[in-house]
Amino acid sequence: MATIADLQPDFATLPEMAADVFTAPLARPAHVGEDWLEPAQTAYTADDHAVWDDLFARQLEVLPGRACSAFMGGLEKLDLGRGGIPEFGKLTEELGALTGWSVVPVPMLIPDHVFFWHLANRRFPAGNFIRTRATFDYIEEPDVFHDVFGHVPMLTDPTYADYMQEYGRAGWKAMRYNRLKALGALYWYTVEFGLIEEAHGDVRAYGAGILSGPTEARFAVEAESPNRIMLNVDRVMRTDYVISDLQPTYFVIESFADLYRQTVERDFDRLYRSLPAGFTYANSAVIDVDNVLHRGTQEYHLRGGRGSGAVPV
Ligand SMILES: [Fe+2]
Repeated sequence: MATIADLQPDFATLPEMAADVFTAPLARPAHVGEDWLEPAQTAYTADDHAVWDDLFARQLEVLPGRACSAFMGGLEKLDLGRGGIPEFGKLTEELGALTGWSVVPVPMLIPDHVFFWHLANRRFPAGNFIRTRATFDYIEEPDVFHDVFGHVPMLTDPTYADYMQEYGRAGWKAMRYNRLKALGALYWYTVEFGLIEEAHGDVRAYGAGILSGPTEARFAVEAESPNRIMLNVDRVMRTDYVISDLQPTYFVIESFADLYRQTVERDFDRLYRSLPAGFTYANSAVIDVDNVLHRGTQEYHLRGGRGSGAVPV
């Protein structure tokens, strides 16, 4: 039976994750507490800072015309190109004045319930470490470049900042229904790999997974291979996704206000009751209800994708 606490979660308190909820198990390092926060940001070496600067310069060659205006504006507002890895305290001061968000250091990927709790309280957990020269082009675990360069500029947009907080709050309900997979797909196809149509035919990226790498920024916006489909939350939450390669499908929003409306005003109780535990649609599928902007050739994935030598066209 539902209790009052279920109906009105206290977002200020770290939620408990029931043992039967499907989620990735992560071993907590001994030096962090239940909040998974690092006591302090890493003291970076000169080479670490140089890696940031080189990654930054490379992205700035690719992103104009491909990244959405909110992102480019955010980079400027936070002056992320001032040189070296940004100091989280300073970033928090500046971001706090704009939208009330803070940036907090975490050692690695953190468990879903802790992640939801931080987002619900307008704290963005950012990986503390930075990739090395050896992993300059591709890393599996999100580092400080992905997290700060990719995600934080978007948090200067007030509507997007509200969406991120609501996403965190939505975690409580998803845990109750054991549907973290579905909510994870929504994150994947919006926060990580989302596109926005800024003007008719002018599609740009706002997802951090796209914005923090040079290949996907071109592929997502311009290539013939991937599908570009207008976002429909119900459909997206039933769609499988690729973790270690370019996406076969990207979902496009009209505006951040539209993204906010589609998710916050959605009756997730009803949706979760009708969702199966697994995904219904393959990541390359185009289905009847889709409003398709571009039907992809899927050439890149048909030729074998990452590691096959296939060109991301
Ligand atoms: Fe990310």
